[in-house]
Amino acid sequence: MEKNQANIVYPKVKFNDIATAFWRGIKPQKWRMFFLLVSITLANIASVITPIFYKQFFDIVSAGGDKRLIVGKLVVIIAYIFIFNLGFWAFYRVATLFNNTFQSMVIANLKRQAYDYLMHHSYSFFTNNFVGSLVQRVNRFARAFENLFDDIAWNLLPLAVKVISILVVVYFINFWIAVIIFIWAIIFLLFNVFFSIWKLKYDILAAETDSKTTGYLADTLTNQNTISVFNRFKYESQGFRDVTEKQALTMKLTWNLSSIMDAGQGILSVIIEFILFYFAIIYWQQGLVTVGVFVLLQLYVISIIDQLWGFTRVIRIMYQSYADAKEMVEIMKLPHEIQDVPVAKNLSVGNGQVEFEDLTFNFNETRQVLKNINLIIKPGEKVALIGPSGAGKTTFVRLLLRFYSPTSGKILIDEQNVSKVTQGSLRENISLVPQDPILFHRTLAENIAYGKKNATIEEIKRAASLAHCDEFINNLPQGLKTYVGERGVKLSGGERQRVAIARAILKNAPILILDEATSSLDSHSEMLIQDALDSLMTDKTTIAIAHRLSTIQRMDRIIVIDNGQIVEQGSHDELLSKEDSLYKKLWTLQAGGFLKEEDEEEVNGADENEDIKDED
Ligand SMILES: Nc1ncnc2c1ncn2[C@@H]1O[C@H](COP(=O)(O)OP(=O)(O)O)[C@@H](O)[C@H]1O
Ligand SMILES: [Mg+2]
Repeated sequence: MEKNQANIVYPKVKFNDIATAFWRGIKPQKWRMFFLLVSITLANIASVITPIFYKQFFDIVSAGGDKRLIVGKLVVIIAYIFIFNLGFWAFYRVATLFNNTFQSMVIANLKRQAYDYLMHHSYSFFTNNFVGSLVQRVNRFARAFENLFDDIAWNLLPLAVKVISILVVVYFINFWIAVIIFIWAIIFLLFNVFFSIWKLKYDILAAETDSKTTGYLADTLTNQNTISVFNRFKYESQGFRDVTEKQALTMKLTWNLSSIMDAGQGILSVIIEFILFYFAIIYWQQGLVTVGVFVLLQLYVISIIDQLWGFTRVIRIMYQSYADAKEMVEIMKLPHEIQDVPVAKNLSVGNGQVEFEDLTFNFNETRQVLKNINLIIKPGEKVALIGPSGAGKTTFVRLLLRFYSPTSGKILIDEQNVSKVTQGSLRENISLVPQDPILFHRTLAENIAYGKKNATIEEIKRAASLAHCDEFINNLPQGLKTYVGERGVKLSGGERQRVAIARAILKNAPILILDEATSSLDSHSEMLIQDALDSLMTDKTTIAIAHRLSTIQRMDRIIVIDNGQIVEQGSHDELLSKEDSLYKKLWTLQAGGFLKEEDEEEVNGADENEDIKDED
């Protein structure tokens, strides 16, 4: 929720960028906007013309004369007043009608625009940002447009139209009164602008305390269970009290400042009434203005002051909207880190040979993860990738999926550089069962079906049962139709892994990556799933990051990674027979005596397997 939470350097956003982003959303609706603004303008012109008839009305009444003649004229005038009032009403109705469609459509366009761009940011981008704050940015972007447009269309435009047309009308009646109104309007505007700008820093402070409160709320609600386990309710309650109290103080301050601003405006309004009427009386005495002018001026003053009341908020809202929009436009201006090259072809996988050529990868200057990796995985070969936690195994397979771009070197699949093919085709040809799968808050069936477009229910059921999901699905109240909770929290780690395996079974891509795919399963479930994995691996090039003996031993080759480098490779027996091999060390150190047991059990066909190492 705080700024600078991300290690991302955003491009500078100028006003122009925001306008361009908004315009993309407006464009399909530009004609609606045009008619909307024209209607508002006409409505306000009508509202300035009506008082002219009131002026005539009172001029005629006060002039006296033959009543029958006067009545005739008055009726005509009233008819005009009726027509213009009706016109005002009609234009306003039309404007609101256009506005309702226009704004709702544009808001939807803007959200889509933000979503579509955001979705294609890289894996690194998402590891560097909180989802909550991204959700907020998308919403605020749309809200910024709404507020800004409301401000401009319903506040600034009417104000400008009114002030200008009133000045024009009054100019033809009395030059000096027009000058007074003009000067007053300038003073009013300056007062507002400067006061608002001065007040802005307190508004920003208030906004900051507000997001602190929201942040505290979100963080502690997420951790409600932890708070409960440590019985820290009092502590958190006090913490929340602190932030809300701070917020209350800043809120009080900004509200008081608003009251002062309102008071200033009130005084200015009283003053203009007084001065205008003072001069009007003088001019009336000199026979320069009529009684009707008093009425006209009074109506205009009321109308301007009415319009100006909303003006106090205009500048704050504009600033706020600008800040809100900027946060999202920043993300939309940030180029996607991983992009298809212009002439990218689709990856075509024949045999599925995977080749790493002198691959080096750094997260940043200080974190070198993989160094000069050279490796060829033959078509259909199954390799196990092992090594201490943090050795770079997950990063290694993410590079293959092109979630990151290599710092140097390249990765080839069937002689095609993964950086040169389309990302879509690359990932369609690889199944990944991740270390810690996250699920959609959708039904289990939908989650499993994610592995294959238009999967039939039979296919889903088959995959689920192969991945041994049946065992837990049958215990769920609505079976496959059960919702799994946000991120899949209603399932255990092992259950989520089985869902991920079911997805991979459905996807059936020629290259398979298992990233500790069974790490959260107990030995028994793992052994059951091993069959499914075995059949999944058949005829597929497979990279399995694993630490269980049962998985590792099934593989054609074992690659040991340490400190970002391949330190050993070979078959299980080869590596064990080597003295001082890291593999042997990992084995004996971390599995301890289990190694022997395991070997015996393998021989005896027992079903218990133990970890050779325990990580994560
Ligand atoms: N997003 C990241 N930014 C910076 N460093 C990272 C990031 N992700 C992982 N690392 C670093 O890369 C190292 C290797 O991570 P990883 O490939 O996940 O290890 P493994 O899967 O072998 O346990 C970690 O020790 C970590 O310090
Ligand atoms: Mg890992």
